[in-house]
Amino acid sequence: MKAVILAGGTGSRLFPTTYVINKHLLPIYNKPMIYYPLSLVMLVRIREVVFVVNHEDIPLYKKLFGEGEELGMKIMYAVQEKPLGLAHALLSTEKYINQDSVCLVLGDNIFFGHGIAEILFQAKGDVEKNGGAYVFGYFVNDPERYGVVEFDSEGKVISIEEKPKNPKSNFAVVGLYFYDNTVFEKAKKIKPSWRGELEITSVNEEYLKEGKLKVKLLGRGFAWFDAGTHDSFLEAGEFVATIEKKTGLMIGCIEEIAYRNGWISKQKLEEIAKRLSKTDYGEYLARILKE
Ligand code: TTP
Repeated sequence: MKAVILAGGTGSRLFPTTYVINKHLLPIYNKPMIYYPLSLVMLVRIREVVFVVNHEDIPLYKKLFGEGEELGMKIMYAVQEKPLGLAHALLSTEKYINQDSVCLVLGDNIFFGHGIAEILFQAKGDVEKNGGAYVFGYFVNDPERYGVVEFDSEGKVISIEEKPKNPKSNFAVVGLYFYDNTVFEKAKKIKPSWRGELEITSVNEEYLKEGKLKVKLLGRGFAWFDAGTHDSFLEAGEFVATIEKKTGLMIGCIEEIAYRNGWISKQKLEEIAKRLSKTDYGEYLARILKE
């Protein structure tokens, strides 16, 4: 399986901040926003990642991640010429994904919770083995902002709707999806929505029609932020700061995960820690090295 992380879009809800800066490069507390979704796919041991970016941002992402050598990964970049929706963004990665299955993550989504890696790992294994799609639901107070999933009394999914005016449940579909390779065929088949976008919800509906959509609910022990508004951006930063200070452990530290996964050597981590030695981040990496 390969991962696709979406870092395009316009970020209009964060204007004027994002007039000239890509949203996903803004800091959530002590690291760029994009580190968080990247760390998640690394936790499920996906080593090949395609970032979908706007044309003008390519040099910035290449400066940040190169081709993934610092993380022992393979990192690729696909350009989305226009922000025409999540399914449209995914289509721009087809030639990099080839025959593989896909883990799609929105670059502005942040997840935290004990056991999250195991849950995602299980979903990944299921899609790799049995095909189909796996998505996750999360109880929210404002479901009309999201894709909303409806269940019957036995917990079977009966509908999935994008930003409905009258949501049929409070379960939002979070920005992390596992798909088999037929996702590309499905994304090519769907039509743009009323807002002119190729919606990922339409792709999920195709899986639902085939009886191949699995939805797992993330309970109240999990935190999920869509950091695309000023309030949620701030809340996400405060959340990360609180947890990191309380536990002394970092959330979304990509070098730590690469090292623990055995993808980079001790020497490499030492080199990175040295480069960042004047920061808490660098001190943290130095501490990991002493373990
Ligand atoms: P959104 O938050 O829905 O869109 P946006 O980032 O353009 O922001 P706004 O609504 O404030 O204008 O996008 C969800 C994620 O998907 C986000 O990380 C950006 C990314 N994205 C793309 O990569 N390509 C796209 O065409 C769209 C719409 C979003």
